[in-house]
Amino acid sequence: MINLKNLNIILTGATGVIGNSILDKLTSAGSNVLATGTNEQKLKIIKDKYKDLNVLKFDVTNHDKIEKFVEDCNKIFLGKIDVLINNAGITQDNLSIRMKDEEWKKVIDINLTSTFLITKNVIKKMLKSKNGKIINVTSIVGHTGNIGQANYSASKAGIIAMSKSLALEYGKKNITVNCVSPGFIVSDMTAKISDEHTNLMKSRISLNKFGSPEDVANSIAFLSSNLSNYITGETIHVNGGMYFS
Ligand SMILES: NC(=O)c1ccc[n+]([C@@H]2O[C@H](COP(=O)([O-])OP(=O)(O)OC[C@H]3O[C@@H](n4cnc5c(N)ncnc54)[C@H](O)[C@@H]3O)[C@@H](O)[C@H]2O)c1
Repeated sequence: MINLKNLNIILTGATGVIGNSILDKLTSAGSNVLATGTNEQKLKIIKDKYKDLNVLKFDVTNHDKIEKFVEDCNKIFLGKIDVLINNAGITQDNLSIRMKDEEWKKVIDINLTSTFLITKNVIKKMLKSKNGKIINVTSIVGHTGNIGQANYSASKAGIIAMSKSLALEYGKKNITVNCVSPGFIVSDMTAKISDEHTNLMKSRISLNKFGSPEDVANSIAFLSSNLSNYITGETIHVNGGMYFS
C-alpha cells in the first residue's frame, strides 16, 4: 500500500465514477483530500462516507472565480497544497460537421481551460513551498483521436501538451506535472453496450478486458506519492495495451 500520510490533495470531479475510486484510494492511503464537484447531493454522500473529508462545491466553468476557489482550498489546507488532481471532465460527442460551436467550446472550456486556470493558481501556491505534484487526467483519445470526439480528443491532447510545458517551466522549483491517460474504463456507460460491441472493443485491447476505475486510481496514487519524485512531463497509459506511445 502506498503511503500518502499527511499529504494535502485537491481532487476535482470527485463525485464521478473515476473520482470516487481515486478518493477511496487516496483516503485509504492516509492523505487529506479536498473533494470538489458540482453535484451537491453526491458531495453530501461522499462527505457522509469519509470521516473528516473536506468538500467544496465548485463549477469549474466559473473562470473568474477560480482564483478565489484555489484561495479557499489553500485556506482549508492551511497554506500547504501537496497535490492537485485535475480529474473533472465531460464529453459532448457529435460528428465534426454537425458539432455546434457550443459543444466545441464547452468541452474545451471545462476540460482544458479550467484545468489550466486551476493549475496555474495552484502552482502559484506551490512555488512558495517549492514542492508539489500536478496530475492531469487525460484520455487515450487525446493520443489516437476518435470519431465524434473532435472536441474531447483536442481537449485531452491539449492537456498532455500543456502538462509537458508546465513540467519544463516548474521542474527547477520541484513541482512535477504528469498525466494519467485511461483507455476503456468500466462505467455505467460501458454496462449499456451490446455484447457484440463489447467483444469487438475487447479484441482491440491487448489484455482483452476493460479497465476498472481502480486501475486509474492506482496510477494516480503512485504519481501522488514520493515514489514518483523523479518523474515529470510524463503520461501513464492505463489502457490494457489498447494503445502504446
Ligand atoms: N470513464 C472513462 O472510460 C474515461 C476514459 C478516459 C478518460 N476519462 C476521464 O476521466 C475523468 C473522470 O471521468 P468519469 O468517467 O469519472 O466521468 P464522470 O462523468 O463519472 O465524472 C465527471 C466528474 O467531473 C465533474 N464535472 C463535470 N463538469 C464539471 C464542472 N463544470 N465543474 C466541476 N466539475 C465538473 C462531475 O461533477 C464529476 O465529478 C474525466 O476527465 C474523463 O475525461 C474517463
